[in-house]
Amino acid sequence: MSMAPTDVADAPLFSFGVVADIQYADKENGSYESQVQRYREAPGKFEEAVHYFNSRKDELLFLLTLGDIIDGNVTPEKTEEDFKVVLGVLDKLQIPAHHLLGNHCLSLPRERLLKDLKMPARYSQHKLPHKWRLVILDTMDVSVRWPEGSPNRQAAAEFMEKHPLGPENPHASIWNGGVGAEQLAWLTEALQSAERLGEKVIVCAHHPLVAGSAAPTHLVWNHEEVAEVLERSPAVAAYFCGHYHIGGYAQPKRVHYCTFEAILEAPTDEVAHAVVRVFPDKLVIEGQGTVTSRTLQF
Ligand SMILES: [Fe+2]
Repeated sequence: MSMAPTDVADAPLFSFGVVADIQYADKENGSYESQVQRYREAPGKFEEAVHYFNSRKDELLFLLTLGDIIDGNVTPEKTEEDFKVVLGVLDKLQIPAHHLLGNHCLSLPRERLLKDLKMPARYSQHKLPHKWRLVILDTMDVSVRWPEGSPNRQAAAEFMEKHPLGPENPHASIWNGGVGAEQLAWLTEALQSAERLGEKVIVCAHHPLVAGSAAPTHLVWNHEEVAEVLERSPAVAAYFCGHYHIGGYAQPKRVHYCTFEAILEAPTDEVAHAVVRVFPDKLVIEGQGTVTSRTLQF
């Protein structure tokens, strides 16, 4: 039987897996704003996600992890052990993976994360099929997670001095960070190049960019500036992030901003992962467990 045209139209251009905030640590459960953090359950849930993705490896191009794969423990040695547990699960993944830097995972040295997660750089771009591009940002670029005296740390100190944490600046806490001038220029150039080539772009990073997709307390330090760069480029379809564990979504202008629900806070016996299917006119998020399914039309 020949394939009807509708069957072709129904097939995605390509698909990939997503997980956010595994944030594993060998620690007792914690709580934040009535959410329970089930640290010790996280590797098991991530392993279920890996099995899910492996069973669909023929249709999934890669896995995107949205940062904070570990929480950071009381000593560097314990943090190291936690990282090895998550790497052990990651080793079982049978498709490639793209990772990005979060605030908690930077409990380990940045160089160590880049090397062991096989990240080409702190921020990077990747060609995808059918004229799509994945742009990965480092939203801890300007943050306190840099050595004292370094230019990035200095820029963070200047930001915090100008923007004291409080009702005026609810996002100015040290668990967030900013995107520096150099990276912003790189991002602008990446988006312009995508426009020239007629490509569509998914931008991703650890921290949310717009209110509504997260609480104001969890946004990138210079979120307005970064969102403006994304909104200016017709190439950008969506922005994916984690960090705000209950997840969220907003479309204040044109770009879709989607915050994925954390593995860490999925209830016991519940999972938190998703498959994103890319179509010429939409992204379809198929959530599993606590991750919300959405269709992002553009
Ligand atoms: Fe985070």
